[in-house]
Amino acid sequence: MLALITGASSGIGREFAKILAYRGFSLILVARRLDRLEELAADILENYDVDVNIVDCDLSEENNCYSLYQSVEHEKVDVLINNAGFGAYGEFSDTDLGIETKMIDVNCKAVHILTKLFLRDMEKKDFGYILNVASSAGLMSGGPYMATYYATKSYVVDLTRAVNEELHEKGSCVYVGALCPGPVDTEFNKVAGVSFSLGGISAKSCAIDGVYNMFEERKMIIVPTVMMKALTFLSRFVPTKPLLFITGKLQRRKGKAQDSNII
Ligand SMILES: NC(=O)c1ccc[n+]([C@@H]2O[C@H](COP(=O)([O-])OP(=O)(O)OC[C@H]3O[C@@H](n4cnc5c(N)ncnc54)[C@H](OP(=O)(O)O)[C@@H]3O)[C@@H](O)[C@H]2O)c1
Repeated sequence: MLALITGASSGIGREFAKILAYRGFSLILVARRLDRLEELAADILENYDVDVNIVDCDLSEENNCYSLYQSVEHEKVDVLINNAGFGAYGEFSDTDLGIETKMIDVNCKAVHILTKLFLRDMEKKDFGYILNVASSAGLMSGGPYMATYYATKSYVVDLTRAVNEELHEKGSCVYVGALCPGPVDTEFNKVAGVSFSLGGISAKSCAIDGVYNMFEERKMIIVPTVMMKALTFLSRFVPTKPLLFITGKLQRRKGKAQDSNII
């Protein structure tokens, strides 16, 4: 069995790699920081009897997504985890347009392309798993001060839900689901320029939850932790305007905490 994980050089992706190796999957690990991937591959090869290939790939470039698929097409990937992604904090009119278009490319376009290409192969053999790492942000009605990030994760949630339903209607055995964690302690905050207002869970527990609910429960939307499940559930009953106000307040606190180095 073979799994491809994007964004495996740190955080949740790195933990996905270790958990899937523990379950006996050979791995294709994708990210831009090759040194990190080499270090992870060496660690996995030392501890598990699996094959590991690493691929240096910038997923913000559309052509790289096609090349990545073509380079592994013949290997018959059984599990795809679209995990690579990042956020950025700030008022929409101030934030960097170049960074945001790259965010859309990595968080949405690359997920879209890889999901479609690998899904077609999986449908042919009527077997396979695709887990798209979205966020609890994707279950809200928008996120003031992280507007683009929230919008990208909504895209991933909506795309995943729709594809999941199409597969269900066809009676397909292929799984497509979205992992929607709340705060997780990774390098995400540093990249996004925020600090959490709620305590983050470990990347390991987030990845364990994702893998378990993908294989064992086949859940369409996976929200780790009871607290985040409760928060995302309750948010459905709050009208959009007050929900935007509350989300915006929380986001501002995250940005201010980062500015003043308060965690
Ligand atoms: N941490 C949280 O609180 C949280 C909550 C909900 C959802 N998420 C989602 O979880 C996923 C993983 O994030 P994380 O928290 O583990 O953060 P992280 O530690 O910063 O990891 C992000 C990963 O994405 C990769 N990546 C970023 N841009 C890339 C690009 N252009 N091409 C290829 N790979 C790229 C990074 O690798 P390189 O830099 O080496 O390329 C890294 O491996 C993301 O989709 C994030 O939105 C995170």
